[in-house]
Amino acid sequence: MGTVYAIANQKGGVGKTTTAVNLAACVAEAGYESLLIDVDPQANATIGLGIDKRTTPTVYDALLGDRPLAETILPSTITHLGVVPAGPDLAAAAMELPRVPGSENRLRDALAPIRGRYAFVLLDCPPSLGPLTVNALVAADRVIVPVQAEYFALEGLAGLLDTLQLVQRELNPRLTIAGMLLTMADHRTRLAQDVESEVRRHFPELVFDTVIPRNVRVGEAPSFGKPVIHYDPHCAGADAYFELAKEVAARG
Ligand SMILES: Nc1ncnc2c1ncn2[C@@H]1O[C@H](COP(=O)(O)OP(=O)(O)O)[C@@H](O)[C@H]1O
Ligand SMILES: [Mg+2]
Repeated sequence: MGTVYAIANQKGGVGKTTTAVNLAACVAEAGYESLLIDVDPQANATIGLGIDKRTTPTVYDALLGDRPLAETILPSTITHLGVVPAGPDLAAAAMELPRVPGSENRLRDALAPIRGRYAFVLLDCPPSLGPLTVNALVAADRVIVPVQAEYFALEGLAGLLDTLQLVQRELNPRLTIAGMLLTMADHRTRLAQDVESEVRRHFPELVFDTVIPRNVRVGEAPSFGKPVIHYDPHCAGADAYFELAKEVAARG
């Protein structure tokens, strides 16, 4: 059976979607059957993979409708990578889910019949610790926490770790942290180096060796509906995401 990864951090703009899209693309490119589920109403991962955000059905129909998740999967431009799109309707799910008893398990239950088909399932979480993120954490085996290499990097991480512990204790004892990922690092600056050593000092076991550099091509790729490995396969960002994919696969 494959592994389900939630890409989570309640801060916005730290590189969750970029990591979900590019890690998914790299493992798929390596030949692993992979599925990216967009769990954010902003649908950035959906759009970043060239899919219209008005596409239906979406993950909403599997979470709150009766639609089997399998019927919401679209092929992507990358061989071996399927996508469950999100759309604006998912914003309502954040309100509706808490009214449904046992709703924390919706995504896990929806995924159960098909997860055996995939070596990697990646869940792109919204920037909050609300019901959608909780659904993702309950469905996941591991969490990847992108941390932007900037001055307030550590702020909010304690709260996130508390939530992960709570979910682990109450809802999903399998859940472990795959790693924290430093993103958008500008190695030319002293600040990025300081932040990197600070985060490594606080979480010595947890931080991935791979650091994702700030790279214009990574930022441009979504507007072309492509992961960076297809937009510019030889740029520093593409190299880094391939390295990350190897590290994630090696950590199991
Ligand atoms: N390594 C990078 N280099 C340059 N820009 C990046 C990089 N990673 C992310 N970005 C850009 O930063 C913004 C926020 O990233 P995103 O992945 O959407 O964050 P989140 O999903 O956590 O909100 C996006 O515009 C994205 O294209
Ligand atoms: Mg995002």
